[in-house]
Amino acid sequence: MAIEKVGVVGCGLMGSGIAQVAAQGGCTVVVREVSQQVIDKGLQSIDKNLQRMVDKGTLTSDARDQARARLRGSTSLEDLKGCDLIIEAIIEQLPAKKELWTALDSLCGPATIFCSNTSSLSITEMATFTKRPDRFLGLHFFNPVPVMKLVEVIRTIATDAKVYEEMVAFAGKVGKTPVRTSDRTGFIVNRLLVPYLLDAVRALEEGVASVADIDNSMKLGCGHPMGPLTLLDFVGIDTTVYIADIMFNEFKEKRFAAPPLLKRLALAGWNGRKAGRGFYDYSDPANPKPQQLT
Ligand code: 3HC
Repeated sequence: MAIEKVGVVGCGLMGSGIAQVAAQGGCTVVVREVSQQVIDKGLQSIDKNLQRMVDKGTLTSDARDQARARLRGSTSLEDLKGCDLIIEAIIEQLPAKKELWTALDSLCGPATIFCSNTSSLSITEMATFTKRPDRFLGLHFFNPVPVMKLVEVIRTIATDAKVYEEMVAFAGKVGKTPVRTSDRTGFIVNRLLVPYLLDAVRALEEGVASVADIDNSMKLGCGHPMGPLTLLDFVGIDTTVYIADIMFNEFKEKRFAAPPLLKRLALAGWNGRKAGRGFYDYSDPANPKPQQLT
């Protein structure tokens, strides 16, 4: 089955990026949010990203206009009726996901494929909220979606093999490189990334080095685009604590346990770049200043 019409639920950072790449990949896209204000913000960010590509010469203005014409926002779930594929990118709370998937399962025809962009919740559990566990899987994109080339395609024990291959092909159609993985908490990337990020915080707590020197070590010594503490601020301290807690709960391994300093930052609301401070102070966003935290 060719995926032509895509519904994206959630027009935040991830949802707007997914809607953008799906439209650029030639799909007709409806992105749904609960408020028009969030839709407007998401569409503005898509316009900005597309324009940036045109300015850099990586996208023609014709291709931009065509992608934009294929994409529209809506506050009504009903507008997702008739989609070949629904990708959910809403808040990482199971009760909210349950309510959404239950409603979508009644609304959409039996052929519609359902995918969640969750980073840490169980795809298998979400599939049980519907009568189509064979057509339910995970499609995990990375932030910033228009830039990061990877999509993790996640199967459960109930996912139909043909549907799975269709989603691997879909990831390619939207310009990404798919990797195949199964429904184990953290999948591939977060299983490796989260312990590394938490270890960087432990190194800071233990006085191994300063915020700036830990980040510079991994940037200049290993060629990472961002140091781990900058990346924590980018992903969000609250988000990382949330993911780490789920992984620790699943595996009961110390490497997934959020260190005290990270938890204190989250408790203080110093959740990184979006909050104006975390491991760095973003009062001047172009010139973040490392904080003295230990
Ligand atoms: N949206 C769209 N495009 C963006 C962007 C955004 N938010 N931010 C940057 N870009 C584009 C720029 O236009 C530029 O494009 P070009 O190569 O065509 O010129 C390119 O990305 C590089 O941007 P900059 O030169 O401004 O800045 P950097 O070179 O510092 O790159 C970065 C920014 C791409 C964010 C880079 O620092 C990076 O790759 N960081 C690591 C990001 C990462 O690890 N993401 C994964 C997080 S984990 C996750 O998402 C999983 C979840 O479950 C937690």
